Amino acid sequence: MSVEKQLVVEPALGRALRGRLRAPGDKSVSHRALLLAARATGRSRIRGISNGEDVRHTLEAVAALGAEVERTPAGLVVNGGPERLREAERVIDVGNSGTGIRLLAGFAAAIDGVTVLEGDESIARRPMDRVAVPLRLMGVQVDGRRGGSLPPLVVRGGRARGIEYTLPVPSAQVKSALLLAGLGAQGETVVHEPVATRAHTEEMLAAAGADIAVYPAGDGAAVVLRPGELQAGDIDVPADPSQAAFWAVAACITPGSDLLLEDVYLGRGRAGFVDVLLRMGARLELLNQDPVRHTADIHVVHGPLAATQVGGGEIPSLIDEIPVLAVAAAFADGVTTFADAAELRVKETDRVATTVEMLSALAVSAEPAADGLSVTGAGGSALGAGTVHSHGDHRIAMAGAVAALGARGPVTVDGWDATSTSYPRFADDLRACLS
Ligand code: S3P
Repeated sequence: MSVEKQLVVEPALGRALRGRLRAPGDKSVSHRALLLAARATGRSRIRGISNGEDVRHTLEAVAALGAEVERTPAGLVVNGGPERLREAERVIDVGNSGTGIRLLAGFAAAIDGVTVLEGDESIARRPMDRVAVPLRLMGVQVDGRRGGSLPPLVVRGGRARGIEYTLPVPSAQVKSALLLAGLGAQGETVVHEPVATRAHTEEMLAAAGADIAVYPAGDGAAVVLRPGELQAGDIDVPADPSQAAFWAVAACITPGSDLLLEDVYLGRGRAGFVDVLLRMGARLELLNQDPVRHTADIHVVHGPLAATQVGGGEIPSLIDEIPVLAVAAAFADGVTTFADAAELRVKETDRVATTVEMLSALAVSAEPAADGLSVTGAGGSALGAGTVHSHGDHRIAMAGAVAALGARGPVTVDGWDATSTSYPRFADDLRACLS
């Protein structure tokens, strides 16, 4: 699906967000669904997979590595298993996806042969030593530009051995890469995370019958995985909280809004934005909570917001939502700070810089810091009109579109096509629920 290069968003001005909306299938779960289904012997069926470009790249990657993937009316059917997986005949392109390249590096560690992973200009700048270093400790050969710290990555897999490793940065991508490598390694793989990060890989490995145990430890956990086979099965992808967050903030800031966001994953490491919005006084409640699928419907009604302080151990649970939480902060009363979030600087863009630039373009006072930013809220009065630039970052583009709802005049989002990586239908969903 092609997405326009520029989107002009008119202010809501009397219109509001109403009704029900199901955000696209969770991107983190979708990548993992494809990788685990490719690894599991037999046919798995994946329903509700993300329709963004990032996940399409991972789909093409697992197909290039030997899994059989078929789109059927009932969902995606993946026929996989270690016997099918083999060296790809060509370089694998991950597009814009950091999750794709890092998880595939771990996945490739368990496949005999060489896998070459490359991506777009943004990927070429993203740090890979965080996966290369521990994979090498597992006995996997990993190379890349600048000594393996930048893509393209070359992974020679097949002979990994389990290690015990403490994550130096809280990163679910690194944890997941090591667990995927550990599936085909000799001996046990133990990953210690001092701060909890999203737990999709652990949850989905357990559901696929892996020999995995998670031991809570302080603010984090230790994950112990023994190598083994996975069982094929059905995977239902819930709605993506990182996408639902755009709508939650949009409803919070747009007078008259009353929106129900359906079937959102709110398990470990993903629900931080809900806590922050509640702290800001948002009129938000969780309905139909499902403790097995870790999902709920989020009901949000417009109301005033107050500033808050965001930082510490909650950061990994909302790192991707900071651009849109910064938009919420722009409509709140007082100064909101985001701290301990230096990881923002190595996302699809330097999101400290691009979030500050996006808000400044709409006349919001926002200041960068080494590990975050502060935003002075306008207390509900309208933002300026203007042009915001995505710099190729989907979340900056969508955060800009949400901010535009509360602007004095039209806001042009330049580089809107970046949204194709995760949410190609965002503009359609906006039109559908704004009335
Ligand atoms: C993700 C983990 C996070 C997040 C990213 C998706 C994942 O990155 O920012 O968008 O699916 O594991 P890190 O692992 O680098 O923190």
